[in-house]
Amino acid sequence: MTRTFPTGFLWGTASAAHQVEGQNHNNDWWQWEARGGIQTRESSDPACDHYERYAEDFRLLRHMRNNAHRLSVEWSRIEPAPGEFDRAALRHYRDVLGELREQGISPMVTLHHFTSPLWFSRRGGWAKSGSAEAFAAFTRRVADELGDLVGHWVTLNEPNIYALQGWHLGEFPPGHRGDLVGVFRVLANLRAGHLAAYRELKRSTPGVPVGIAHNKFFLEPAAPRRGDQWASRVAQVALDRWPASASRLELVVSAPADFIGLNHYTGQLVAFDPRLPREHFARRFNPPGLPESDFGWTVNPDWMGRALQELRGLGLPIVITENGIATSDDSVRERFLHDILLQVWAAIEDGVDVRGYFHWTLTDNFEWARGYSMRFGLVAVDRVTQERVVKPSGHLYARICQANGLPESAPLPPGATAARA
Ligand code: FCB
Repeated sequence: MTRTFPTGFLWGTASAAHQVEGQNHNNDWWQWEARGGIQTRESSDPACDHYERYAEDFRLLRHMRNNAHRLSVEWSRIEPAPGEFDRAALRHYRDVLGELREQGISPMVTLHHFTSPLWFSRRGGWAKSGSAEAFAAFTRRVADELGDLVGHWVTLNEPNIYALQGWHLGEFPPGHRGDLVGVFRVLANLRAGHLAAYRELKRSTPGVPVGIAHNKFFLEPAAPRRGDQWASRVAQVALDRWPASASRLELVVSAPADFIGLNHYTGQLVAFDPRLPREHFARRFNPPGLPESDFGWTVNPDWMGRALQELRGLGLPIVITENGIATSDDSVRERFLHDILLQVWAAIEDGVDVRGYFHWTLTDNFEWARGYSMRFGLVAVDRVTQERVVKPSGHLYARICQANGLPESAPLPPGATAARA
C-alpha cells in the first residue's frame, strides 16, 4: 500500500538567496562575514553559484518531480540604494521565476529571508521606525514586477528566530547580546512590515496566497508536573507570539495570512526551576536518549505531528515551508525524510489541512554563521568545481514526489539506520 497524499499536494525544496546565490556584497550578512561573524571563516561567495546556475538547479528539481519551489529574492540586489530599483536584478528574477514556470514548478517567493540591504541596516534595520514602510515599498515593486509569476508569497522568514539571533543571542547581525528591548522593537516592526506587505500583495496580486514562514520550535514539559507544564506553555507562547502590544498576546501564526507557513526542525524539554533568576524560571534541554543532528538538534519526528495538530486549531491551511536535518550521513537523512513524512501523512489522514512540504534544502549550502559545515542538502556540491551530485536521499525524495506518497515497500536503503545519540 502506498500512503498517498492529497491530489495537488505541493512537493518542493526551500532555499534563501544569500545561502545559495553567491556575489551578494551589498547586504548586512556580507558585512557580518567581513567582521568575522562566520564561525568557520568561510565565505558566502560563491555559495552554490546559484545566481548563475539556477537553470541547472531547477533541472534537478524537475528530476526530483517537484511541483513547487521556495526561494527568496535578495532585497539588496533589487533595491541597492533607498528608492533605487535595479532593472537588471528584477529582470534576473523574472528569468528565474520564468524558468521555474517552464519546468512546471510553482514558485513560492520569500521577500525577507534574514538579509537586509546595507543602507537599511545602517539606518538601524528592523529595530528602527520606518523599517516597515521601507519594506512595503520594496514589496510593492517586487509584486508589480514579478507577481504574475508567483504561486505563493512568504513575507518574512522566521521573525522570532531573526530577532532572537540578531538582538539576543548575537549569532546573526547586528550581533547584539541580551538586548531584549531590541528584540521587542524588531518583532513589533516586523509585524508592521508584514501587515503593510500583506496589503501591498493583496492589492497587486489578490489571488496569490500570502503567509509568514514561522519557526515552530517545539517545547514540551520535562515531566507531567504542574510547574513544568506551566513553564513550557509560557516559553512556547513567548516563542510563538508577536508582541502586537504589551497587553495583548497574539500568535505570530494568527497575523493576517492566507496560510500558515511552518518551519519546523526541532524542540526541547522544559523544566521549571525556582532556583533560576525570575526572567529564566526554567531550564531547556534536549531529551536524553533521542538522536541529535550534526547541529545538536534533537531528531524527533513525533514533534512534527504534534506541531501540525496544534496549529490545526487556527483554521488556516498549513504549508510546511521548511523541514530538514543537518547530517553528513545521508542514510540518516533518508530515514528522517521517511519518518517525518509519515507524521505529515498521518496528520492529513486525521483531517489536518496540510497543503505542501518544502524540504530544506536542495543543495548543501551556506548555513549562516556555521558556514558550509552543516549539510542539509539532498544534493552535494563540490566546493571547488561546483559540481552537483544527487545523494540517495535526493533519489528517495524523487520517488516520493513522483508517487505523491510514501511507498510502503523499500522506503529505505538496506542498512539505513536512525541517527545515533
Ligand atoms: C532555518 C532558516 C534557514 C536554514 C535552516 C537550517 O531557521 O530559515 O535559512 O538556515 O534553518
